[in-house]
Amino acid sequence: MKKIAVLTSGGDAPGMNAAIRAVVRTTIYNGCEAVGIKRGYAGLIDGDFTKLDLGSVADIIQRGGTFLHTARSEEFMTKEGKEEALESIRIHKIDGLVVVGGDGSFRGARELCELNVPVIGVPATIDNDIFGTDLTIGFDTAVNTALDAINRIRDTATSHERIFLIEVMGRNSGWLALEAGLAGGAESILVPETPVDYETIVKRLQRGLDRGKRHSIILVAEGVGSAFDVKRKIQELADYDIRVTVLGHTLRGGTPSATDRIIASKMGAFAVNLLLDGKTDLMAGMVGNHVVGIPLQEIIGKKKGIDEYVHNLAGILAI
Ligand code: F6P
Repeated sequence: MKKIAVLTSGGDAPGMNAAIRAVVRTTIYNGCEAVGIKRGYAGLIDGDFTKLDLGSVADIIQRGGTFLHTARSEEFMTKEGKEEALESIRIHKIDGLVVVGGDGSFRGARELCELNVPVIGVPATIDNDIFGTDLTIGFDTAVNTALDAINRIRDTATSHERIFLIEVMGRNSGWLALEAGLAGGAESILVPETPVDYETIVKRLQRGLDRGKRHSIILVAEGVGSAFDVKRKIQELADYDIRVTVLGHTLRGGTPSATDRIIASKMGAFAVNLLLDGKTDLMAGMVGNHVVGIPLQEIIGKKKGIDEYVHNLAGILAI
C-alpha cells in the first residue's frame, strides 16, 4: 500500500480534524503518501484531491468542524456517481481509503469495498448512534456543549421560576439528550426510544412545584418531535408558563473535548494500520477502552439502543 486517502462525510463532528491528523501522520510515519479528499463523496466524484504532508495537519487538532469539509452526496448514491468515484480513485492511484463519518457514510464505504476498494470507517457523529462502537467522535463535545447551555438556562430558569424545554439534536437517537440531561440534572428527559407519557411529565412537574421547586428543565431529543409541540401538549394538561430553547447546530461546533481528540487519534491511527495490514470493510470502533475492527456489514442499519438503566437512573435522581 503506497497511497492512503481520507475523507469526512455527513454531518460534521468536533474531533474530525483530530482523526484526519491521525490518519495523515500514521500514513506518513509508515512511509506512505497521504491524500485528503474535499467535501466527502462529492469531492471523490469530482476528483477534489489534495496531497497532505505533516505540516498540512498541524494546528488542527483543537479545531471543530473538518478542514476537508463535508457533504451529503446524493450523486454518490447513483450508479454513475459510483463509477466516477471509482475512476477518481484509479486516476489518483489510491490504494486505501479512510471514511470518517456516520451510518450513511459507512453505507458508501461498503459499496466501495464491494468494488474492491479497501476502505476502513471511523465513526464520527454527535448522535452517538452507530452500532458496534461505545463512542463516536464528537459526541462527548456535544454533550458538554449541551451541558454548558443547560447550566446557563438553569440560572435564568431559577431566577424567573420557569419551566424550560431544551431541544437537542440526535436525529432518531436519544443518546445526546440522555447524557446531557443526566449530567445537567434535568427533571425529565424525552427520548425517541421511549414513548412520551405527558401525564407523567405533568405529574413530575407538579410534584416538584408542590415541594417548593420553582424551576424545571426538560430535555427533548429532536427525534421525539419539536419542543414547541411538546410545550403545547404539556400546556393542554396544565397551565404552566414554559419557555423553549432549541440548541440545534450549536451542538455541532466548538473545540473538541480531550475525549474526542483522544478517541479520534486512536481510531484514525488504527484505521491506517488496518489498511496497512491488508484489512478492509471494517469500522475502527471503541469497545471498552480499546479500538477494534468491526465488519461494516455487522453495524450498518442496526439501531444502537440507549442505555435504559441510565434513563431510569436520571428519572430516579430527578425525583
Ligand atoms: O447527524 C448529525 C446531525 O447533526 C443530527 O443530529 C441532525 O438531525 C442532523 O445532523 C442535521 O443535519 P443538517 O446539518 O443537514 O441539518
